[in-house]
Amino acid sequence: MPQFDYRDGHYAVEDVAVRDIAATCKTPFYCYSRAAIERAYAAYADAFADYDMQICYALKANSNLSIVGLLAAAGAGADVVSGGELQRAQAAGIPGSRIVYSGVAKTVPEIELALDAGIRQFNVESMPELHAINETAMRRQQRAPVAFRINPDVDAETHEKISTGKSENKFGIPWHSASDAYAHAASLPGIEICGIDMHIGSQIQSLTPFRNAFARIAELTQQLRDQGHAIDTIDLGGGLGVNYGGDGKTPPTPAEYAQLVTEAFADLDCRLIIEPGRSLVGAAGMLVSTVIYVKETATLDFLIIDAAMNDFMRPSIYNAYHAIRTERQGHGAQRPYEIVGPVCETGDMFARGRLLHELQAGDMVVLEDAGAYGAVMASTYNTRPLVPEVLVEGNSFRIIRKRVSEAALLALDEPWPATATEQA
Ligand code: LLP
Repeated sequence: MPQFDYRDGHYAVEDVAVRDIAATCKTPFYCYSRAAIERAYAAYADAFADYDMQICYALKANSNLSIVGLLAAAGAGADVVSGGELQRAQAAGIPGSRIVYSGVAKTVPEIELALDAGIRQFNVESMPELHAINETAMRRQQRAPVAFRINPDVDAETHEKISTGKSENKFGIPWHSASDAYAHAASLPGIEICGIDMHIGSQIQSLTPFRNAFARIAELTQQLRDQGHAIDTIDLGGGLGVNYGGDGKTPPTPAEYAQLVTEAFADLDCRLIIEPGRSLVGAAGMLVSTVIYVKETATLDFLIIDAAMNDFMRPSIYNAYHAIRTERQGHGAQRPYEIVGPVCETGDMFARGRLLHELQAGDMVVLEDAGAYGAVMASTYNTRPLVPEVLVEGNSFRIIRKRVSEAALLALDEPWPATATEQA
């Protein structure tokens, strides 16, 4: 990534030394590069330049208003999965006509919010959900634009917790039930069928799962059209992986992915939607932390840093590999470190046996490729407040989410006893 490099021995994002940010905004914090996000978006936009294509950024990857805002300015729409994400997309300036709503359990208030926003389409995942959308739209004398998310029953060859397109996963309508689902939807007065949708998983590292799913969706589209349904739009979901390193695999590029899309759908003359999340923001962000203690035991050296599993869950819950950089790189001897956080769980672990040049308390430790599914998945476990987010733009940086104070966290709770009288 040219946006991240060492300059005079200091780790820099674009033209800003990360240690200068750390001096203003204490660690841990997330740090993103605007140029890296814009470059990732441009790779998709260029790859699909000849298509009638809407890139709907999957907000779940990173929903900070500044990040969504800069993608919106680049032309992105939004893929949202909750009323909250819908409101974020709107607050970032994305019009309803560029928003698709995915997820297995849209509630009536959320459906109302989406109808108010005039979203482009609901990606419907079950018949009970279809009925809720139909009834809500009818009550408002509206017709809701609907695509069914089809579960093509293919193996995305990714971590089991982020694979979504197999028959045993909770997502979508089984592909062999699609005809019946569309026929029923066509009979509902509050529903307007507009397309078909799929999403088979995340961090997909080869084109094969996409090829298998696309073949099934293309065939189904033809079949549904033959049955008289207006399948105007095909939403291909997200899923393209990021090169985290550590496993020697390189995910396909947006250009290679676009080539596959052409091969699969060229004959169908349809509008396309894609919902990338990770591949737009993953490599554009990092988690910056500081070594609190180096704890040496008879067998292992623990590097205890000030970031923990509550700040960044991916290593703990998916055993995810993230590259680690320090400013000692290239200096002194190397040692294998157990890189852990302060939270009271053995699973609070970022890396095992990671070979790094020797570090001391106070040194900076950067976990790379943390722009997606980092800040958004953080919790306040161990009463550790959510950490700030910083956006670098050229030679300047901006705090785009403030640090939450412990006092603000405590203020959310009600004390017990509730009143002075009860206390007495
Ligand atoms: N569309 C739908 C309907 C999705 O469920 C997802 C991700 C996306 C698009 C975006 O997928 P992407 O392009 O980011 O792969 N927390 C996990 C990832 C969960 C992904 C959930 N769905 C992780 O940290 O690996």
